[in-house]
Amino acid sequence: MTTSESFFDLSSRVAVITGGARGIGLAISERFARAGASVAIVDRDEEACAAAVATLQAMGAKAISVSIDVTVEAQVEEMTQRVVAELGGYDILVCSAGIVGRNAFAWETSAEEWREVLDINLTGVWLCNKHALSVMRPADYGRIVNIASIAGKEGNPKLGPYSASKAGVIGMTKSLGKEVADTGIRISSIAPAVIHTPMLDQVNQETIDYMVSKIPVGRTGLPEEVAALVHYLASEEASFTTGACFDISGGRATY
Ligand SMILES: NC(=O)c1ccc[n+]([C@@H]2O[C@H](COP(=O)([O-])OP(=O)(O)OC[C@H]3O[C@@H](n4cnc5c(N)ncnc54)[C@H](O)[C@@H]3O)[C@@H](O)[C@H]2O)c1
Repeated sequence: MTTSESFFDLSSRVAVITGGARGIGLAISERFARAGASVAIVDRDEEACAAAVATLQAMGAKAISVSIDVTVEAQVEEMTQRVVAELGGYDILVCSAGIVGRNAFAWETSAEEWREVLDINLTGVWLCNKHALSVMRPADYGRIVNIASIAGKEGNPKLGPYSASKAGVIGMTKSLGKEVADTGIRISSIAPAVIHTPMLDQVNQETIDYMVSKIPVGRTGLPEEVAALVHYLASEEASFTTGACFDISGGRATY
């Protein structure tokens, strides 16, 4: 743990990170492990999940891998129970699992493509939040951070289902934040602009150039920069904020 990270000590905390096997989720998992948390990596990519857990264990962290599809409620429920049984609690949830979907105009997009993106990016986040709250409410403590996107605020052309799903995450987080505001649970969303991760392999260069051109800082963000913001929001210190959407867009969002 570095001196600066010790301000947001997570040493008695159990954290679940969906989509934790790669990209932003992996950077968050590594940062949480350095801050002392026990970490459950939850991802449908079983191999990448196991590799991420091995990395955390090599750092000296307690970590388990739970390979599930976040769109299947029975699997989310089972994952929640496993985390409590194997790690002794459930204090923090970060929902990073997501897909971009095909780059296409609305009139080229099928209903199946629309539903797949909404199912993973919005329903999957709702299911994980719902079941985490079933443990956090009786404990009267919890921190949830849902990874939305600047696309949910502004809408990126040819990414309609993605933009709609992320707007949904921002709205759902506002609603859930208010539902538990009188407890020790705090729920936030964050809206990153384009971040350098394997997810960009799903996006064509023209779209990446368009997204970077809108960022005043003039570059893509780093997963580690996102992890730093999430670390604060997942800490006990983030006690007087809930339901809000935090910006991490290199100046793209001005609201
Ligand atoms: N990279 C960016 O530019 C960017 C910008 C804004 C927001 N985001 C959001 O941040 C989050 C993480 O993005 P990333 O760039 O790290 O992506 P990534 O593709 O590198 O990682 C996403 C992970 O989610 C997992 N996943 C996908 N569907 C799943 C499912 N149904 N069940 C369980 N796991 C599943 C994948 O296996 C993968 O490991 C996503 O929600 C994304 O929309 C990313």
